Amino acid sequence: MGGGERPQGTDLGKRTVRDLDLASGTRVLARVDFNVPLEGGEVSDDARIKAALPTIELLLERGARVILCSHLGRPKEREPETSLAPASRRLAELIDAPVTQAEAVVGEQVRGQAEALSAGEVLVLENTRWEPGETKNDPELAKELASMGEVYVNDAFGAAHRAHASSAGVAEHLPSAAGLLLEREVVTLRGIVEAPERPLAVVLGGAKVSDKVALIDRFLDVADSILIGGAMCFAFFRAQDIATGDSLVEEEGIELARKALEKAAAEDTASLLLPVDLVAGDEFAADAERKEIDGTSVPDGWMGLDVGPRTAEAYTAEIGGAGTVFWNGPMGAFEMEPFAVGTRAVAEAVAAAPGTTVVGGGDSAAALASFGLAEEVSHLSTGGGAALELLEGKPLPGVEALDDA
Ligand code: 3PG
Repeated sequence: MGGGERPQGTDLGKRTVRDLDLASGTRVLARVDFNVPLEGGEVSDDARIKAALPTIELLLERGARVILCSHLGRPKEREPETSLAPASRRLAELIDAPVTQAEAVVGEQVRGQAEALSAGEVLVLENTRWEPGETKNDPELAKELASMGEVYVNDAFGAAHRAHASSAGVAEHLPSAAGLLLEREVVTLRGIVEAPERPLAVVLGGAKVSDKVALIDRFLDVADSILIGGAMCFAFFRAQDIATGDSLVEEEGIELARKALEKAAAEDTASLLLPVDLVAGDEFAADAERKEIDGTSVPDGWMGLDVGPRTAEAYTAEIGGAGTVFWNGPMGAFEMEPFAVGTRAVAEAVAAAPGTTVVGGGDSAAALASFGLAEEVSHLSTGGGAALELLEGKPLPGVEALDDA
């Protein structure tokens, strides 16, 4: 989607960067999510940087002086290995504008650099989490950040669930607006729960029920079907007294799973589908002995590491017939080739589905990318936790803090 196009669906209800009336040379402080993986001191996955480009380019086209800030990792103080310098280098390769990396987040020297910027130039502040006030949403830090810009733009959807100084507090001190990525993410994800093309099929995997229980609860009310995979299915099986052998079972998830099963049985909810067959290994290793189990009872000495072929077929059919599909979480230990079949089947079904397809960040994004299918979905979210909290119906502080439209 180009920078100027408004995404379809529910309105954001917030001013966006498109609505800003910027005089050339306006200093714009833009929060982006450059929390990217690094390998050997370089960015190993630049998807989040690329996703921020439409907003950065729009600001530059309008002659703004752009001051970018982001966190990277979870440092508690200045930790050089979490510097934003690799992200800045990658950004400089992707845009046609001079990019300078500051040596700190705030302070006299950085302020001087911000003031010395020319229209159409970019300054990247250092990792906001090097400042202890960042995660405490310290008003002094928020004020200091704000003093470098005349307008604040938040495009960091991935961090929008954090009430931190750079993602929320700063908006109290400047006129503010949403970036294009943040807008597209929120509008698309809200659209899934508020106005989906039906039927709405939700595919949830991963290890823990506790991570997804609020989502399951919401989608039992909103979706037409919920397809469960990944190790979290074993909490559902234990809740039904089905043997799980040596499978990974989240003990505290068993009760949560029982409640979800009860709700699904008692009320007029989405149908809750569980695997009907499994692939097991005799250990958690790529060279483990592998066997298919026709059914869901796992013998001792074996652990379920993937969904089986009948499940993959049933889930593929459900996904193919859906008007909207939301997928979050792998079906098994897809990082080990012998146990990647179920996740690959879901990824391929989502990629081929004729309906609107939205994939939550994190492991599902990595799975899609590893199968070369990242370009084949309608929307691949850049946010993991933020996407889940939005879908659960929680307000996102980074969005709430922005000026209304
Ligand atoms: C993410 O990677 O999900 C976001 O950048 C947020 O990071 P955080 O969980 O460290 O706040």
